[in-house]
Amino acid sequence: MSNLITSLVIPAIRMLTSREKIMTVRLDNREEILSVENEEDLRKLNFIKKSAGILVVDETTDPEEILEDLEVKLCAWFDSRIVHPDYLFLKGVGVVAIAENAYLLDVLLGAPLVEVKEISGRVQDKIVIVTGGAQGFGGGIAELLYAQGANVVIADLNEEAGVKITTALNATMQTNKAFFVKANVSDPESVEAMIAATVNYFGGLDVIISNAGILRAGGLDEMSPEVFSLMTDVNYKGYFLCAKYAAAIMKVQARFRENYYTDIIQINSKSGLKGSNRNFAYAGGKFGGIGLTQSFAMELMPHRIKVNSVCPGNFFEGPLWSDPEKGLFVQYLKAGKVPGAKTIEDVKAFYEAQVPAGRGCRVIDVVRAIFYIIEQEYETGQAVPVTGGQNMLN
Ligand SMILES: NC(=O)c1ccc[n+]([C@@H]2O[C@H](COP(=O)([O-])OP(=O)(O)OC[C@H]3O[C@@H](n4cnc5c(N)ncnc54)[C@H](O)[C@@H]3O)[C@@H](O)[C@H]2O)c1
Repeated sequence: MSNLITSLVIPAIRMLTSREKIMTVRLDNREEILSVENEEDLRKLNFIKKSAGILVVDETTDPEEILEDLEVKLCAWFDSRIVHPDYLFLKGVGVVAIAENAYLLDVLLGAPLVEVKEISGRVQDKIVIVTGGAQGFGGGIAELLYAQGANVVIADLNEEAGVKITTALNATMQTNKAFFVKANVSDPESVEAMIAATVNYFGGLDVIISNAGILRAGGLDEMSPEVFSLMTDVNYKGYFLCAKYAAAIMKVQARFRENYYTDIIQINSKSGLKGSNRNFAYAGGKFGGIGLTQSFAMELMPHRIKVNSVCPGNFFEGPLWSDPEKGLFVQYLKAGKVPGAKTIEDVKAFYEAQVPAGRGCRVIDVVRAIFYIIEQEYETGQAVPVTGGQNMLN
């Protein structure tokens, strides 16, 4: 039952209580709420204001019947009022708070009123998961989407870096919020829990950016079966798992709201479009990712879930290339991979010269592709190159 509350009832409530604007909702099932018997007692709880609008749902055992009861009651509610209820009370399950944004949601659940910045961004109040969001491309994508108003879930194995970036984002005091979840994208239980944590915290899921990825280069002589499996698990299976558990929530949202579009976006690579010498474990997984994107797109478009990949060129300014100790520039310099190169700058210049645009890919380049994908309703199943002209589609 609690699984169905998260995977069905909460995302449905988010859609059913929304009129023009899509709401942010959260289930609160603290002990003191679970023991409440009726609306009168609920109103005695100290965080509930006297003027709060409460709608009581009578059916609380069968999730489909909860929703039927709710649909009828919400119709009656909106017949006589313009504003949505502040809380839905489901006896023995908890209270679902409903608000225009994540800050107001916190206030409804007892947080103090503080001064916040109201912005009106391109992805205002959308709920977005970024896997591998603690650093690199993922960290930059999370920052830019947050700056444009998204409620961002940063999901990463690296808890320290993930909490750091989440705290920094929330310190900007916008009405949208960031939230960290420790997750391993190659583990089904962990991905399922990541999606559940997102739904429980913000009420649904609008965009998942499957970005977490690893690279261990090596030719056939060096590549061990174990490393090959690890890379395939993170880069290929991880994308499948994200799509599987995200789509389940997105389908519910499509069922309860007409014309509502959501997005599954994989951060692929130019190595998903063209083979990569002595880097087949990476390129193979990325090529496979495009096969998944095309196939998921066909399956999910009837649910208005668009599925696309973004294929960035090399992110020379990110840690993978520029880390002073482990970065690829240092490694390639030491290995003498670039003939005649004496410094890191020489190695960098060699790689930059291969890009018609004359520079590496940056986070903003990738985010512009993400905006295109999200804003476009008439496209799915694509691999959008962002390579400065280094890879051109046939
Ligand atoms: N760096 C590039 O030049 C480049 C170019 C094209 C595409 N990409 C792709 O962009 C994505 C991000 O790459 P990056 O260079 O920013 O990487 P990065 O190594 O800087 O960051 C990756 C993040 O993913 C996290 N992560 C790793 N394994 C994970 C797992 N199993 N579960 C959850 N989190 C995990 C790491 O902790 C890290 O925070 C990858 O999919 C990569 O293939 C990178």
